[in-house]
Order: sequence, then structure tokens, then C-alpha cells
Amino acid sequence: MVHVRAGGTPAPPKASPNPTPLLIHEEGKGSMRLFSDSIGRKVVMAITGLLMVLFVIGHMLGNLTIFAGPHGLNGYAEHLHELAPVVWVTRVVMGTAVLLHLFLSIKITVENSAAKPDRYAVQNSLRATFASKNMIWTGAIIGAFILYHLLHFTFRVTPDVGAFAGTVPGDVYGMVTTALSATVTGIVYIVAMVSLFFHLSHGIQSMFQTLGLSNAFLLPRWGAVGKTLSVVFLVGFASIPAVILVGILR
Ligand code: HEM
Repeated sequence: MVHVRAGGTPAPPKASPNPTPLLIHEEGKGSMRLFSDSIGRKVVMAITGLLMVLFVIGHMLGNLTIFAGPHGLNGYAEHLHELAPVVWVTRVVMGTAVLLHLFLSIKITVENSAAKPDRYAVQNSLRATFASKNMIWTGAIIGAFILYHLLHFTFRVTPDVGAFAGTVPGDVYGMVTTALSATVTGIVYIVAMVSLFFHLSHGIQSMFQTLGLSNAFLLPRWGAVGKTLSVVFLVGFASIPAVILVGILR
């Protein structure tokens, strides 16, 4: 629009107080946005979370072969060993996913606690559940468990599995039943599986919501899928130390 002064001469167009940045400048920042924008971060959390849920499904199904006895679990471990290239690709993808998920969860928690004034605390806790309020703590327990679990059954550096070190894959059934028959170790595994249950009972629904796969109809259904999967994981994983602790598997 051309402005006309009282004297009749057209005024020069006014400079905008907030000129639109050049597109190229915006594009330059694009690669970082996934990690710096709050939506971008949540999407990365959801995708890495989804990858971990897929891994957990596969790992649980593999572990359940223990109920078929030494032949079942050792045969499964041997089979995985023969698929080394697939296993290594999975390790790299999953390792990256776990580190990204961990880094962003800490970043989001620190930023949220700095930004959230106390007056919102009551409102939030009304809608929140035990699982949603404690995501950072259940996540921390799972992170610590994964570290311990890798040292335990993958690197086999803890004294209780010393006899199985360097025999990869070897007698995985013997290793698991020997290690989990110790009361403290069995309980540590069960506590970690309970933490996984709480983490996923909120996390799976939240993941679908972030990925935009939810509306008023779908959201409660994803909630049900999340809770059902979490219960299946709890029963599928925790049943292993439980039956070993009570002496059913030995
Ligand atoms: C009762 C529960 C569990 C048992 C008995 C179990 C058993 C095992 C065993 C035997 C291995 C080593 C396999 C081998 O060297 O051939 C292993 C590896 C692993 N487990 Fe578990 N696991 C359990 C729960 C979990 C959970 C809940 C997670 C993740 C949240 C997990 C993550 C892993 C990872 C990341 C590896 C390393 C895989 C690799 O070597 O690439 N485990 N587990």
C-alpha cells in the first residue's frame, strides 16, 4: 500500500520493525531444530522410544525361549551369533537411540523445571499419574539397569558370571539361571522390570500423541495399547527371574 502525505507526495514505504529473516538463514538453522525446538525434541524422543520398544519386543520373545530349557535359549543365542552383521547394525542403531533419548530427557527435564513456575504445580499434578510424574526416575533406573545388564550378560565381567566369560555365546541358559538364582540379583532384575512397566505405561501413549497418531477417538485406545504392552513386558521379562528364584527353572 502507498501512503500519501498531506502535501500530496507519496511517503516511502515504512521499514518493518521485525524484518522477515532471509530464507537461507532459516534453512541454515534447520538441521539443529530437531534438537533445539521443543516439538523437534519430543519427536526425537518418540522415534527413539519406538525403536527401543521394538527392540524390547524382540528381546522378550528371544528370552522366553528359556522356558524351552537349555536347548531353547542356547539355540536362540547361537542363531543370533550367526547373524552377526544384523546384530551389529542393531547395536549401532539402538546405542544411538538410547544415547539420544537419554540426552534429550535430561535436557527437557532441566529446562522444564527452570521454566515452570510453582503456581502450575497443583494444576499439573491433578492430571498426572504416578507413571507420568516419575518418567525421569523410572528412566534413570532403566538406564542404570541397561549399563549393569550389559556388563553382566554381554561383557560378562561381574564375578557371578566369571565362569562364562570368553565363551560367547556358550551356555547362555547356564549363565542366566546361575546369575538370577542369587536373591539380590533376581530382585534387581524384577525391580528394573517394574520400572520398565511404569515407564512404558505412560511412554507408549505419549509417543503416539507426539507422532500425531492420536485424536479424541484414538488417544484412549493408544493408552490401552500402551498399558497392555507394558503388562505383557512385565510378565514376559519378570517371570524369568521369578521362576529361577523359586527354583522352577534351574
Ligand atoms: C529378565 C529380563 C532379561 C533377561 C533374562 C535378559 C537376558 C539377556 C541376555 C542373556 C543377554 C546376552 C545375550 C548373549 O550374549 O547372547 C542380553 C543382552 C541384552 N539385553 Fe537383556 N535381558 C533381560 C531384560 C532386558 C531389558 C528389559 C532390556 C532393555 C530395556 C535388555 C537389554 C539388553 C541389551 C541392550 C542387550 C545387549 C544385546 C547385544 O549384545 O547386542 N534386556 N539380555
